[in-house]
Amino acid sequence: MREAPGSVAKTSARYSDSRVADSLDDSLETAGLAPQPAPLKRIAHCSMEELRQRRCIIRWFDEVRDEIAAMLVDGNVILRSSVCPHFGGDFEFRATEAILECKWHGWKFDARTGECRNHTIGTKLRTYQFEIVDGMIFVKCE
Ligand code: FES
Repeated sequence: MREAPGSVAKTSARYSDSRVADSLDDSLETAGLAPQPAPLKRIAHCSMEELRQRRCIIRWFDEVRDEIAAMLVDGNVILRSSVCPHFGGDFEFRATEAILECKWHGWKFDARTGECRNHTIGTKLRTYQFEIVDGMIFVKCE
């Protein structure tokens, strides 16, 4: 079988480019100049003082296109998505049980683990990383 003129050269050029790119990556890494992942953004959610008073604060964030519940459970701050994975219903937080219960059809989620307690489903509520700076809780997102 005869190849079209130029097809061999194209393959070789790709191979050559890949080797150059790998070599460049190795050189940058050796020199400590390898590309670093972008730092996470911080978005203010609420103050610790507000959370101590209300135990649960739910706010929508355009940056992550999600509603995030900040909860105080056993003295620990927990941030989870507060959009019900069933059909997007609203949650009510029960502090004494550490449960988020959907107002629409009653699915209950453990605030600590994000797992559903009364239905077997293949997902759990999303967890958000956060940091507390000068009494403010900041959601960390990409
Ligand atoms: S929408 Fe939440 S249980 Fe149905």
